[in-house]
Amino acid sequence: MSHLEKTLIVFKPDAVQRGLVGEILSRFEKVGLKIIGVKMLKPDYDHYFHHYEKIGKMISRRGQEVFDVTLKMMGAGPVVAFVLEGIEAASLVRKMVGSTEPKSALPGTIRGDYAHMSYIYGDVNKVGIPNLIHASGDAEEAKNEIAHWFSDSELYEYETAHEKFTQTKKPSK
Ligand code: PPS
Repeated sequence: MSHLEKTLIVFKPDAVQRGLVGEILSRFEKVGLKIIGVKMLKPDYDHYFHHYEKIGKMISRRGQEVFDVTLKMMGAGPVVAFVLEGIEAASLVRKMVGSTEPKSALPGTIRGDYAHMSYIYGDVNKVGIPNLIHASGDAEEAKNEIAHWFSDSELYEYETAHEKFTQTKKPSK
């Protein structure tokens, strides 16, 4: 059984506007994750509704208010989406990204190192939490999210220098 997975990350408007895309992306490259798709875009409401509600069931899980402030925040500017591939990539990336609430995210994680807002601050001020990056929750969610954000022709196959060290060769027939 292969443990090779694809996962989606989206640099949110706060990461793009703070000029942190390159710095954060390099963390994923350094652990050996392979970039197999990339695009900058400014999705409309319907795209985010599909992403956060149809796939993520956000309204039932988090409530209408969180949904509204999140969509407003995501609409504030362009985002950069990547598809990454690697061994158990979805959980690895979530570990590197850290907890959803930046205040709770541990130092060493992306949100812990580059952000600090708390849920309570966001709730009181009715703003979305600028937590830099979205990452698929698990491999199954990643499949749905990648199909929503990318077409098959926008994903690429190639060999990285890391694979020699991180992956066993396929058995020959
Ligand atoms: S996850 O990944 O589904 O487990 O994340 P979850 O905790 O359910 O949150 C989903 C997205 O909602 C945002 N969020 C909030 N924004 C503002 N205020 C509050 N209280 C809040 N709770 C959750 C959070 O940033 C998640 O966005 P994404 O883009 O998925 O990271």
